[in-house]
Amino acid sequence: MSWYQTEPVVSLELVDLLGVSAEAGVIDVGGGASVLVDALLHRGFAHLTVLDISEAALQASRERVGADAPVEWIAHDLLTWEPTRRYHLWHDRAVFHFLSGDEVGVYRDLLHRAVAPRGYVVMATFAPDGPEWCSGLPVTRYGADQLIEALGAEFMLVDQRREVHTTPSGATQPFTWIAARRVGN
Ligand SMILES: C[S@@+](CC[C@H](N)C(=O)[O-])C[C@H]1O[C@@H](n2cnc3c(N)ncnc32)[C@H](O)[C@@H]1O
Repeated sequence: MSWYQTEPVVSLELVDLLGVSAEAGVIDVGGGASVLVDALLHRGFAHLTVLDISEAALQASRERVGADAPVEWIAHDLLTWEPTRRYHLWHDRAVFHFLSGDEVGVYRDLLHRAVAPRGYVVMATFAPDGPEWCSGLPVTRYGADQLIEALGAEFMLVDQRREVHTTPSGATQPFTWIAARRVGN
């Protein structure tokens, strides 16, 4: 859980910068036990989805925010998931960087099916000088230019951030953040 953050500061900063409305459909992929869903509920967001491969992580979040919260919880591997609707905002912190080879193309195709026209993506991966491993798995590190290129030509960079996250043990993890807008259909 080295990646765990108590306040989703940059996520909320970029949601504000993009002007995403509380009425918008928002999905946090690989949301796990992240408190982003709590913060968005607090701001009145009412159409939230959290997807994660780990049922246990989703259960922890579900128990934290309460069973009545307006959140759809999806326990699924995102690489084999078939979305049944489109989202105005796709949020991914520290999931895309686990993918390699063909998986990157699978993710890109999924993005194109799941993000609404003129919708947004907020994404964070480890930065080029960040750790090479996360949760014991190798990661691909990205700068903002590489990350936006990986999403494909339908996405235009709106803004970027560098964040140095301090882990619970006091180590540092530099992250690259991008906010992107879908320009094609
Ligand atoms: C490093 S954690 C980040 C969690 C959260 N986004 C955050 O910022 O705290 C990665 C999360 O992605 C989930 N995950 C990894 N591979 C996945 C996949 N293929 N499909 C769905 N979730 C996945 C893990 O279960 C874990 O909750």
